[in-house]
Amino acid sequence: MCRVACLVALIVLMSPSAHALDNGLALKPTMGWLHWERFLCNIDCDRDPNNCISERLYMQMADVMVKEGWKEAGYEYVCIDDCWPSHQRDAQGRLQADPKRFPGGIKKLADYVHSKGLKLGIYADVGKNTCAGYPGSLGYYETDAKTFADWDVDLLKFDGCYMDWTLVGEGYVNMSNALNKTGKSILYSCEWPLYEWPFQKPNYTAIRETCNHWRNFGDVYDSWSSIKSILDWTASHQDIIVPSAGPGGWNDPDMLVIGNFGLSHAQQESQMALWAIMAAPLLMSNDLRDICPRSKELLQNRLIIAISQDPMGQQGYRSVKVDNFEVWERPLSKKRLAIAVLNMFEIGGPRGFFIRAVPGWKICEPQCNVTQILPQYKELGVQMPHTKLDVFVNPSGTALLTVTPISGDFTGLHKLHWEESVKRKHTIL
Ligand SMILES: *[C@@H]1O[C@H](CO)[C@@H](O)[C@H](O)[C@H]1NC(C)=O
Ligand SMILES: *[C@@H]1O[C@H](CO)[C@@H](O)[C@H](O)[C@H]1NC(C)=O
Ligand SMILES: *[C@@H]1O[C@H](CO)[C@@H](O)[C@H](O)[C@H]1NC(C)=O
Repeated sequence: MCRVACLVALIVLMSPSAHALDNGLALKPTMGWLHWERFLCNIDCDRDPNNCISERLYMQMADVMVKEGWKEAGYEYVCIDDCWPSHQRDAQGRLQADPKRFPGGIKKLADYVHSKGLKLGIYADVGKNTCAGYPGSLGYYETDAKTFADWDVDLLKFDGCYMDWTLVGEGYVNMSNALNKTGKSILYSCEWPLYEWPFQKPNYTAIRETCNHWRNFGDVYDSWSSIKSILDWTASHQDIIVPSAGPGGWNDPDMLVIGNFGLSHAQQESQMALWAIMAAPLLMSNDLRDICPRSKELLQNRLIIAISQDPMGQQGYRSVKVDNFEVWERPLSKKRLAIAVLNMFEIGGPRGFFIRAVPGWKICEPQCNVTQILPQYKELGVQMPHTKLDVFVNPSGTALLTVTPISGDFTGLHKLHWEESVKRKHTIL
């Protein structure tokens, strides 16, 4: 039964996406590396020279990204997070890098990263201070935008600490305008909705017009409970946030923590699969200089990256929650569908799930070709709607598949599929 909330959701879903920020960037979810989750605000270079926030860290990451196949796999942005600047602006009121940790300055670092064929990201804050207490950009939006453009920086992560929440939106819009005014296209990563949700429902039309991606929810931690909380938040707000994603602008569930300490391999597979389904930016926060081969292989898996970077750019969604399984689906170009089946039962061994119980499975009419990508690559071959195909999923792991219809007329099926999955959300869940 479709009640009022459901009807409203349907209307929103069927209306065309709002206009994206027109800077020509983020036509596919951003891929790269960002220091925060792994390296935090480690500024003690005397004690920990290899891991402190310094120009060396980004130069070494850029080197490894080229040498170890990351760039070739699509990871492009090397991003600085908080704690890079000096505590004082210079005599002209400009931000400056900490002189001890960035002796060459940011411009030289950008040149170095560009010489490797990669791009450099930087971090600032819409308010009075950054979250770690460095100078914020409030009152300096145009100055800071111009400084970043002069340095030839390619991406700005703009945080939302130390800001009156009623001015958060205005601040993000003003910085977006200031970046535009520089004449240089700078990818603009916002946290506008994250800082507004506690007080009011954010205006995603305005956010999409202003930012290339936007954080909705708290920081990711190196733990399965953190990944689960992000998935849960996303699924429970999908009617609002999924329609706002598309080429030029994306929901950002925060960094990939694959290759660190807190996730089992099955859980790492779940994060990779679900970040691809969610059309999320793939910004790794790990130590690429020292990463286990299995994590590396997972992060560089071309088939999962192809789902993430699908040109249609529609974000996936949770379509069903049953028997401690969650099914997530993402419609892909050429009428294909990606399916992720998560086993949320954190005890026992692998459990079977009948693939025909996936709501989107109807695209298999009259027949389809199925490829399993996780936990291992397997051609499952030609299937029919009433197949008895079972996929086995490890506890807290994910089976990831793509379904390609073989023949028939599928016009309008994706749209239908959306409608029905929304209906289902409001009846079954
Ligand atoms: C600035 O905005 C205008 C209008 O939206 C757009 O056409 C132009 O490409 C933008 N320039 C940059 C550098 O983002
Ligand atoms: C944004 O820009 C407008 C127009 O210049 C200005 O009135 C307003 O104070 C600015 N808001 C913030 C938060 O900077
Ligand atoms: C949301 O933002 C859009 C674009 O800026 C604006 O046209 C619309 O009126 C806003 N909606 C609400 C409810 O404020």
